[in-house]
Amino acid sequence: MFFQPGVTSSGLPYNPFKSCCVPRPIGWISTVSNEGVHNLAPYSQFQNITWDPPTIMIAVNYRRDGTLKDTAANILANGEFVWNMATYDLRQWVVSSSQEMPPGVDEFQALDIPTLESKLLRPRRVAGSPVHFECKLTQQLEVPGNTPEAGAIVFIGQVVGIHIKEEFIDANGMLDILKVKPLARIGYLDYITVESKFEVVSPSFAGLDKVAAMVETAPGQESVK
Ligand SMILES: Cc1cc2nc3c(=O)[nH]c(=O)nc-3n(C[C@H](O)[C@H](O)[C@H](O)COP(=O)(O)O)c2cc1C
Repeated sequence: MFFQPGVTSSGLPYNPFKSCCVPRPIGWISTVSNEGVHNLAPYSQFQNITWDPPTIMIAVNYRRDGTLKDTAANILANGEFVWNMATYDLRQWVVSSSQEMPPGVDEFQALDIPTLESKLLRPRRVAGSPVHFECKLTQQLEVPGNTPEAGAIVFIGQVVGIHIKEEFIDANGMLDILKVKPLARIGYLDYITVESKFEVVSPSFAGLDKVAAMVETAPGQESVK
């Protein structure tokens, strides 16, 4: 099939676009207003951009009436946000924190979500998350939409502090992803988590110069990370 978004119809009951960019990790973002009201919301338009310095982005759409979501208003007000890793075990809280609440409501209190103070910045952390990034806004980009709610602000933030709970670091000093069970979005109302993993040796890391060697790599072969 082929369709031109905004020009021709896909003929499908639901727009398939977001289900094609999957799985999307969730930017579960905590912020605080200048008045001290704490806020939490999930954003699946989220990614890392580079690693030195570690930098991430979230794309926050506007509300239907064209006003700013609380997350965007808070980041614009003081430039601070925290990324909390969303996990399968925390899925109910992740989704319930997407409710639109008035700006004066502390969403951690409203949803009974236990918090931890951050080390460097003011937004709080979700206590149950295995990993947190404390982030400072470095750039923002306005992306227009065909409707008010489809417009977005892309916030780019430098990760100035990283918390990882020791219990999620394995014997090799690596993040134990199968224990973490990160939560990701796959379009529609569907989510996915990680229950298995496999390794593929990259020729550039292993010093192999032929693509064929990578293809023939046997499972379990020693690899360079
Ligand atoms: C899993 C999930 C992912 C979401 N991703 C986004 C997103 O990428 N961008 C966005 O603007 N809203 C997204 N939303 C909706 C926001 O979470 C929702 O608008 C929320 O009320 C915003 O809260 P705030 O006003 O406190 O910032 C998502 C919702 C869910 C459940």
